Amino acid sequence: MISRRGILWGATAASAAILCRPSVGLAEAGRFVNPLKIPALLEGTPGSGGKIYDLSVASGKSEFLPGMSTPTIGINGPYLGPTIRCRAGDHVTLRVKNALNEPTTMHWHGLHVPASSDGGPHQIVEAGAIWEPSFEIKQKASLCWYHSHLMGHTGEQVLRGLAGLFLIDDEESRSLRLPSEYGVDDIPLILQDRRFNSDGSFDYLSAMPDAMMGYKGNVILVNGTANPNVVLRRQRTRLRILNGSNSRIYTLGRDDGVDLIVIGSDGSLLERPARLRRVRLGPGERVEMLIDMQTNQTIKLMSYPDRVTSRGMGPGMMMGGMAGNAETFPIIELRAAQLETTDLSLPARLVQVPSWIPARDTRTRTFTLDMPMMGMGMGGMMGRRTMDGLMGINGRSMSKSRIDVQVPLGSIEVWEIRNTTPLAHPFHIHDIQFRVLDRDGDPSLPNERGLKDTVLVDPGSAVRVIAEFADFADPHHPYMYHCHILEHEDAGMMGQFVVV
Ligand code: C2O
Ligand code: CU
Ligand code: CU
Repeated sequence: MISRRGILWGATAASAAILCRPSVGLAEAGRFVNPLKIPALLEGTPGSGGKIYDLSVASGKSEFLPGMSTPTIGINGPYLGPTIRCRAGDHVTLRVKNALNEPTTMHWHGLHVPASSDGGPHQIVEAGAIWEPSFEIKQKASLCWYHSHLMGHTGEQVLRGLAGLFLIDDEESRSLRLPSEYGVDDIPLILQDRRFNSDGSFDYLSAMPDAMMGYKGNVILVNGTANPNVVLRRQRTRLRILNGSNSRIYTLGRDDGVDLIVIGSDGSLLERPARLRRVRLGPGERVEMLIDMQTNQTIKLMSYPDRVTSRGMGPGMMMGGMAGNAETFPIIELRAAQLETTDLSLPARLVQVPSWIPARDTRTRTFTLDMPMMGMGMGGMMGRRTMDGLMGINGRSMSKSRIDVQVPLGSIEVWEIRNTTPLAHPFHIHDIQFRVLDRDGDPSLPNERGLKDTVLVDPGSAVRVIAEFADFADPHHPYMYHCHILEHEDAGMMGQFVVV
C-alpha cells in the first residue's frame, strides 16, 4: 500500500542507511478514488463587536488510507480546520478553545494584526483554555491560513492537523468576477505530504534526514484526502492552493502541458495574470490559478522535479539533492463533467498592489540563513534526532527572550535574505505583506508580482523584499520571522522583531 522504496542519493556506503528516504507513492497516487474533501466554511456569527468565529481544537481519528486509523488533531473536526471567511473591514473575534491535553497556539499566517493577537510562540493557549483575539481585517483579498506556532513543536502539531484556511474578500476582487463559488468553481487545495507507520499513525522524525532536510512524506494529502479527485462543473475553475507541507517544495503544472493562469500570490491577487507552464510553491506559500477545461476532459495537477533543489551535484549540493523535491507525481485528478459555459475573458490588469521603491534613506537589513553547526561536518549533524539550536539566522538561533530587530513604526524597509546553506528556505515574515524586489539582482518572478509574506530563497541566493510597517507599534510583543520549513523553524531558524 505505502511505498517504502528508498532513494539512494549517491552517498557513501556508511551513510547510505540514514540517507534512505521513502519516495512519494506513485502507484497508489495513480488511482484517484477519493472525492476531494472541501473544508467547511466558517463565516462567523454576528456578535456585539463584529463577527465571532468559534474554533475548537481537539484530538480525533482520521482514515486517510483504507482500513487505517490515524490519530490526528483538528479544529472543529478531526483533521485540519474550517475555512474562515471574512471581508476586508470586518471586525472579527476568533474564539480559540484548546480541548487538547497539551498547549498550542493559533497563528493567523498572512494577517496584518497586532502582535499580541498574532498567535505566535508567545500567545500560548494552555490545555483547556480559551484565547480570544479580536481585530479588524485591514488588508487585501487573499488566501491566508492559520496554524499552530508552538515553539519547538510547530512541525509536529501542524503535521497532526493543526491548520486551516483564512479567506479574505474585498470589493476590488469581487468586481473582477473571478470564479468565487466556494467548493464549486473556487476550490481550495491544501497540499501536504505524510508518512504512516504500520499501525496507521503518522511517522514523524523517525528518519534521520527529517530534522535537517525537512520532513518528507510518501503519501500526498489534499485537504486531508489521499488519492483525490474533484469533479468540475464550470468551464473555468479557480484553484486556491496552499502549500501546507512541513518542508516539501512543489513545482506545479498541468499534465496536458497547458499553461496555468496564475492570478494570485500570498497576500493579494497579482497585478496582472501570468500564464506559466510551472509554478514553484514552497511551504507556507499560496498561489491562486485558473484552470480552463472542456466537457469530459480529465487532467492531473502534477508536481514536477524542482530544478533548483533536485540538482545533486558536488559535495555541497548533495544535501540539496537529499532535500528531495526531485520526483514527478500527481497531486489530484480534475474531472470535467458536463460543463456550464462561463465567461473566459480575463482583465489584463487585476488589482492595484502597492509597489514601494527603495529610496536613498531606506533602511536595508540583512538576514543570513545559516546552520551554525555546519562546521561539525555531516556526521555530527546527521547523528542527532533533534536539531535544537542547529539552525539560525545571522549566526543565532531563536530565543524567545531576545528581540533581534526593532522596526520604527511607519517605516519602509528592505530586508535582504541571504542563504548560505545548501538547502532552499521559504522565508516568512509576520505582520506585513511585502513585495519581492529582486532575486540575485534579477527581477522577481511573474507569479510573485502581488503581495507576499513567504518567499523561497535558493541555496547561495539573496532575495530582497520591501514592506511598510504601518501599524501596531508595541515594544512588548514581538512578531516572528523564520524559515517555513517547520523542522528548521523548530530547530531555531527564527527571530523576533518589534515595531516601535
Ligand atoms: Cu505560517 Cu510564523 O508562520
Ligand atoms: Cu505567519
Ligand atoms: Cu529552512
